[in-house]
Amino acid sequence: MENNNARRNFLKQTAILSTATIIGSSLFTSTFAAEKSLNIDSEILDYANLNLEAPYSLPKLDYDYDGLEPHIDKATMEIHHKKHHQGYVTNLNKAIETLDPKLIEQSKSLDTIFNVMSKFPESVRNNAGGHYNHSLFWTLMKPNGGGNPKGKLADAISSTFGSFDEFKKQFNDASMKRFGSGWAWLVVQDGKLVIGSTPNQDNPLMRLRGKGFKGKPVLALDVWEHAYYLKNQNRRADYLESYWKVVNWDAAENLFNSL
Ligand SMILES: [Fe+2]
Repeated sequence: MENNNARRNFLKQTAILSTATIIGSSLFTSTFAAEKSLNIDSEILDYANLNLEAPYSLPKLDYDYDGLEPHIDKATMEIHHKKHHQGYVTNLNKAIETLDPKLIEQSKSLDTIFNVMSKFPESVRNNAGGHYNHSLFWTLMKPNGGGNPKGKLADAISSTFGSFDEFKKQFNDASMKRFGSGWAWLVVQDGKLVIGSTPNQDNPLMRLRGKGFKGKPVLALDVWEHAYYLKNQNRRADYLESYWKVVNWDAAENLFNSL
């Protein structure tokens, strides 16, 4: 009798444990799936480690305003960072205040905004883009920069474009041909390096209706006149020449390697 009771208890406990394991496993699966889908969303920005979450604020530069002299002048850097970039940050925070509550919830990080970009008004699109693009741009320049890329990025540039010189030529072309204001980009698109450009403050991470230029940025170059007018006036080609002397290939390679 005792044996029967012991056996029944054993079977009952085993059944409880099995059920708990199944429930636990399905909970684990759904939690994992949720985390995975969240990761896919946040992945679009996390790789650049820019920490761009609301309330949005102006990031500090890793170098002084005169750190890129004589190629990019101090006055341009100071106005560009303190006035233009700050303007995007201020106007983004203001634009978010006027949204309906559901959209405010979705505006707490730039990755979420870019993922559902077409739901947001133009004021958010322009200022969120302006904030992200500039934050990335500052990190992709440095004092005593320039030279040639190294490592895996250098290999990928050579195998994709034939040579570093050919890559520069194509990147310069994209920068020169961007009519009016915008950005030139080197991105990874479907596992391949691709050069392109976007108008205004759009970027290749925004999920917009229609066929925009898409990919994960490795290089970002501001070709708005405010980026060069004080020193170069309307000569964008001169600005490009200066840019290649301050480009931060280490940062670009880090981005490329993290993709
Ligand atoms: Fe700019």
